[in-house]
Amino acid sequence: MKNKKIIIAGGTGFIGQALAARWGKENNVIILSRQSATAATGKNNGFGKRLLTADDGYYITYWHWDGRFVEKHWAEELEGADLVINLAGKSVNCRYTAENKKEIFDSRTDATRAIGQAIREATVPPKLWINAASATIYRHATDTSQDEYTGEYQNDFSVQVCKRWEKTFDEQRTPFTRKVAMRMAITLGQGGVMVPYLNLVKTGLGGRQGNGRQMYSWVHIDDVGRAIEWFLEHTELEGVFNLAAPGPVTNSYFMSTLRRITGHKIGLPAPVWLLKLGALLIGTETELILKSRWVVPTKLLETGFTFQYARVDAALRSIVRKMPRRLYHFF
Ligand SMILES: NC(=O)c1ccc[n+]([C@@H]2O[C@H](COP(=O)([O-])OP(=O)(O)OC[C@H]3O[C@@H](n4cnc5c(N)ncnc54)[C@H](OP(=O)(O)O)[C@@H]3O)[C@@H](O)[C@H]2O)c1
Repeated sequence: MKNKKIIIAGGTGFIGQALAARWGKENNVIILSRQSATAATGKNNGFGKRLLTADDGYYITYWHWDGRFVEKHWAEELEGADLVINLAGKSVNCRYTAENKKEIFDSRTDATRAIGQAIREATVPPKLWINAASATIYRHATDTSQDEYTGEYQNDFSVQVCKRWEKTFDEQRTPFTRKVAMRMAITLGQGGVMVPYLNLVKTGLGGRQGNGRQMYSWVHIDDVGRAIEWFLEHTELEGVFNLAAPGPVTNSYFMSTLRRITGHKIGLPAPVWLLKLGALLIGTETELILKSRWVVPTKLLETGFTFQYARVDAALRSIVRKMPRRLYHFF
């Protein structure tokens, strides 16, 4: 992809930075962040690197926004843009206290509404608006896979978040801008969840979690970038799409594959009681690892899209190869 104007709201996180790295050398990438440009570019991305900037040879500009209200300086950037991607949202990797729950909801719906309004007010609206959504919208599935046509929903907290997020996106009337809601599965790349997984594996704790039979849907970050390019290219596509590799695995298979690829033979399993204790200690929720996510990308495959990484073994190998060695070796 070349010579496109791309706005990424919430682009300072794991997925946003990976997309900025993918497109930032041959396109004009504008990132909206709640941090000031100086703070954003000085920030460590949690992976031992600061955020990508023009100093690294990228055409990337950071603009401040509050993620809630339209402001002229960033709204103007949407004029004539090829693509707007909204990734903004408080991380769900926290305890589900009343305060955190509110922020998880509001950060997603407020940012979505603000972008919708800015697009409606644009003189030359962007061609395509992709809003992040999540494959967690489907129920805990141990019996059958879930897709866009027949998938079933539950009403636990994370499903409610996904539903409200998508509903807010759906409500935004942008007649001249195509919309795609991208229900991403757990995204694997050089950052994000791979960091805690590798830490577990290298400390000998990389065994199955719970009974290990829960399904694990995942997608390689390169396929997220490729799918977005596909949506941009295929102007007939709009609506909701699952973005999960066609080869979901069990938690047990995922962990054993990771151990094999990183050369760690021993991996103690973590029973549910231990996970609950650990989650409490590190301020997160066990749902993130124990929910059985069995999601398949039926609609995307129907469009003719092919995944570069359909198998988890190849996906993990490609990621681990590029990760700093300190993350998966003691020495
Ligand atoms: N990673 C995955 O496996 C995965 C899977 C499915 C869906 N998703 C969704 O995809 C999106 C991007 O994922 P990610 O892994 O890149 O997340 P991330 O690393 O947590 O980045 C999200 C970004 O959202 C912004 N943000 C955080 N709290 C906010 C708030 N209260 N109000 C407005 N903006 C806020 C932050 O940017 P600033 O601090 O610079 O403003 C942050 O960089 C998220 O919404 C996530 O829920 C992710």
